[in-house]
Amino acid sequence: MNRPDVYVQSDIDFPRLLLASNREPFRVIRDANGEVSRCERSMGGLTSALCPVLERCDGVWVSWNPNALSTDDDDLIREQHGDGIPFPTIQVGLRKSEIKGYYNGFCNRALWPLCHTVLRCVTPRLDYWQDFRTVNDRFADVIASRSKKYDVLWIHDYHLMLVPAAMRRRIDPRHRIGYFHHVPFPNVRVLKAFPWHRQLIKGILGADAIGFHTPEYASNFIECCQELLGCDTRSEPGTIHHGKYGTIVRVRPIGVDAQSFAMIANQRDVQDDAIQIRRKIRCERLVLSVDRLDYTKGILERVEAIRALFARIPQCRGIVTFVQVAVPTRTDVPEYPQYRAKVEAAIDELNGEFGHGDWKPFIYRTEPMKRRELVAHYLAADVACITPLADGMNLVASEYCASRTDGDGVLVLSSQAGAATTLGEHAVCVDMRKQEGVVTGILRALTMSESERALRMGRLRSIVMKNTTDTWLKSCLDDIMHPEPADAEQLAALVKIGHARQGHDGGRVRAGAPKSRHATHSSSMAKRAPAGNAPPH
Ligand code: ADP
Ligand code: F6P
Repeated sequence: MNRPDVYVQSDIDFPRLLLASNREPFRVIRDANGEVSRCERSMGGLTSALCPVLERCDGVWVSWNPNALSTDDDDLIREQHGDGIPFPTIQVGLRKSEIKGYYNGFCNRALWPLCHTVLRCVTPRLDYWQDFRTVNDRFADVIASRSKKYDVLWIHDYHLMLVPAAMRRRIDPRHRIGYFHHVPFPNVRVLKAFPWHRQLIKGILGADAIGFHTPEYASNFIECCQELLGCDTRSEPGTIHHGKYGTIVRVRPIGVDAQSFAMIANQRDVQDDAIQIRRKIRCERLVLSVDRLDYTKGILERVEAIRALFARIPQCRGIVTFVQVAVPTRTDVPEYPQYRAKVEAAIDELNGEFGHGDWKPFIYRTEPMKRRELVAHYLAADVACITPLADGMNLVASEYCASRTDGDGVLVLSSQAGAATTLGEHAVCVDMRKQEGVVTGILRALTMSESERALRMGRLRSIVMKNTTDTWLKSCLDDIMHPEPADAEQLAALVKIGHARQGHDGGRVRAGAPKSRHATHSSSMAKRAPAGNAPPH
C-alpha cells in the first residue's frame, strides 16, 4: 500500500487526541476478492484539514461507518488500523433507517441549509430529529467508552452538535472537550425559527472551547446563546457563562497543509502535467473552479455569470476556457441530484451557444482527483474562481495559493466565503448575488498586469503559508487545554461584529479582559492535571 498522501511532519508536542467527526477520514477500496486495493481520503474540507492533524498527534479518529449495518444485531463499533490508513480509527455503525434520518435527513436537509441560510431547503422533520439524537448519543457512548484519562476530546462539525453535552454526562470531568464548527453559524433570527434551536446550542455548550472560522459565525453563536438561552455573554467577552460553567468561543480560521501543497507544486513532473493540461485544453487563458457539487457552492450562478461574460465580451470567445471540477456529493439527498441536473443543463446550453470548432468554453469534470493532479490543475490555472454563495471557509482558495510557488495566478473569491476574511484583501472579491460584479471580477482577473498578479499572489501566499494546519491546530488545542482570556485580536474580532449588529456599548470591552469568574467544565481538575502534561497511559 502506498501512503495516501504527502504529509509534513511537525515537531510540536501534541497531546493524545480523540477526534470525532461524522465523515470517515479514509475509504478503503477492496477488489472482487475482498482484498484491499487502495485507500482514498474522503472528499471534503473537513478530512483535508484534519487528516494532517492525526498525522501529527497521537490519537484515534472516531467516525461514521458509511456501510450501513445489514442487520440490527451487527456490531455497532469497528476498530481499524492498517489497510493503508495512517492512524487508528473507530467506526460507528448506523442502521439504514438512521442513515436516512440522521445523515440524509437532519444533517443534510435541515442543519446544512440552516447553517448556510438556504431556508427553502430546510426540512425540519421530527423523525429526522429523533435519529439525529440517537446517533449523537451513540457517538457519545463510543467516545466515552474509548477515551483514556486525560485524552483531549475534539468533536467536529454540525453533524455532532449534541455530542459535547452528551459527553459531559458520561465522562470524568478531567477530560477537556473542544468543538469546532466547520460551516457558517446562522444569525439569531434564522436559528430562532428552527424548532430544536435550544437543544442544539446547549449541545455545543458542553464543550470547554468552541472554534469558528470567522468573527461573524462566532458572534452569531454568542448572540444566540444570549438571546435564546439567556446566557451571560457580556461580563467576560469571548466567554459564555451558563449555569456554573464557562465556555470560551474563539475565532480560529482553519489553514491548509501549505508546505505539502508547495512541495508537490515544486515537483518537475507535476509542473509538466500542468503544461500538458493547458496544451490539451488549447486555450490562452484557463479559469478553474473546484467544488463538491453542492448548491451552496454557487456553481449554477457561476455558469450563468460566465454565459453573461461570453455574451457581453465576444473577445473572450475562443480565448478563455473555464474548467469546473465538481464532484457529486450527498447523492441520496433529493436536492443534490436536482441541483446537478440544473447545473448540467446550464453547462450544455452555454457550450451549445458559444462553443465552436474544437473550442469548448466550459469543461466539466466530476471525478475525484489525486492531490498531485489537483495541484497540477492549480498550477495550470491563470485564475481560480472560488465563488460559493455561502461557505464556512473554503480550503480550495488556500490550496490554490499554497500551490502557486511560481508566484503567479489570480484568486477570484466570493465575499460570502469564510476565506474572504483572511484572503479577501488580496483576492479579487466578488459578491455572488450580483452577476454584473462577478463578470467584472473575472474580467479584472483575466486582464490583471503581471506585476499586480505577483504582488497579490505574494501577499496571499504569505498568509496561507503562515496560517497552516499546525498553527490552527496549536491555537485550537491551546483553547481547549489551557484557556486564556481572549486576547486583543480575538476581542477586536468578536466585539466588532457584535457591535455592528447590536449597537451596544463598545466602551465596556477592552483588551486584557478579567480572568474567568466561573469554572470551565473541567477547570478545577485541569489545573491539577493539565492534559498537555498528561502521564503516559
Ligand atoms: P467543503 O468542506 O464544503 O467540501 P472546501 O473547499 O473547504 O469545501 O474543501 C474541499 C476539499 O475537497 C479541498 O481540500 C479540495 O482539495 C478537495 N476536493 C474538492 N474537489 C476535489 C476533487 N475533484 N478531487 C480531489 N479533491 C477535491
Ligand atoms: O466542510 C463541511 C462539510 O460538511 C464537512 O463536515 C464534510 O465532511 C464535508 O463538508 C463533505 O460533506 P459530506 O461529509 O456530507 O460528504
